[in-house]
Amino acid sequence: MNTKIVKIDPGNPRMDCIREAGRVIKEGGLVAFPTETVYGLGGNALDVEASHRIYAAKGRPSDNPLIVHIADLESLFPLVTEVPPKAERLAKKCWPGPLTMIFHKSDMVPYETTGGLDSVAVRMPDHPIARALIRESGGYVAAPSANTSGRPSPTLAEHVIEDLNGKIEMIVDGGSVGIGLESTIVDFTEEVPTILRPGYINEKMLRDILGEVRMDKGLIASDSSVRPKAPGMKYRHYAPKGALMIVEGQQEKVTDKIRKLAREKIAAGYTVGIIGTDESVGEYPQGIVKSIGARSEEESIGRHLYSVLREFDECDAAYIFSESFDTPRMGQAIMNRLLKAAGHQVIKV
Ligand code: TXA
Ligand code: MG
Repeated sequence: MNTKIVKIDPGNPRMDCIREAGRVIKEGGLVAFPTETVYGLGGNALDVEASHRIYAAKGRPSDNPLIVHIADLESLFPLVTEVPPKAERLAKKCWPGPLTMIFHKSDMVPYETTGGLDSVAVRMPDHPIARALIRESGGYVAAPSANTSGRPSPTLAEHVIEDLNGKIEMIVDGGSVGIGLESTIVDFTEEVPTILRPGYINEKMLRDILGEVRMDKGLIASDSSVRPKAPGMKYRHYAPKGALMIVEGQQEKVTDKIRKLAREKIAAGYTVGIIGTDESVGEYPQGIVKSIGARSEEESIGRHLYSVLREFDECDAAYIFSESFDTPRMGQAIMNRLLKAAGHQVIKV
């Protein structure tokens, strides 16, 4: 298949291009597009065939449900059997934005879209291209992250091209995304709202709006004895080709340890990657050293995490040693992704 790639300026989106992309989705085709979190692979959420095609293009297991993207709050109600008052309050505060909510699904949503579940995940993204495209596509766009299953989520159109060129009808290139980590998922089918995936909207922000909030037990357990409730969270996503290890502890000791590990592996003939920050990269004399961002601006760490992991795949690093980034606001989301990428391999110093 020939994939059409169109560049659209998010600051001044060309409506003729967006209308064309909307037509592709309405006719059952697939279009990758930018959101404020990561790029999504969009298809008509109410079209069973389109859902099948999304799973096939990503190579994704069909028990892993898709998020339905909407552009207006009114579009939520027909998708679900009820909207609990707390969910409505959260929607009013955080939508459009990097938040997904889970509800009991109505008959309107096909089981093909929800991976066979009786619940449905819904999100209203905050990105001018995404919102215009959803409206032009009929209002309901199923969109998982636009990566091949098992690869890091795409934060640039180039990443989508790497993974999906030739497999989908169209890629809308809207430049770099803003946040770089997937949306926070909150489950409202539980008695107490439960976080199934941490993201930019963190636990404290949710508590301030909702009161009591729980973390899914399967998220906290690193030994996989408890299954996470979001089927996608059980897979070892985001896995780089090399062995990734996180070194945790006081910064000076961390730098020392990574220097020592890198020296040993390089002496043994391996290509070694190091993930540090703007503040620390100067401390590493050996290895392929990349900065993930600045500790003084933690958003930059979230934004670059996935592209740094992809870059290490390209340089075929056999070992990658990373600092830990337990930053105040986004630390939980960043470390959730990094720990999964590392298969929970942590060295404490
Ligand atoms: O930021 C995002 O959410 C991006 C952009 C494109 O919007 N989308 C995204 O989709 O990350 P995806 O498919 O890569 O991740 C969706 C996650 C998966 O872990 C899936 O298992 C979970 O949401 N999920 C979807 N529907 C669910 C449901 N009904 N119950 C529990 N988990 C669900
Ligand atoms: Mg994904």
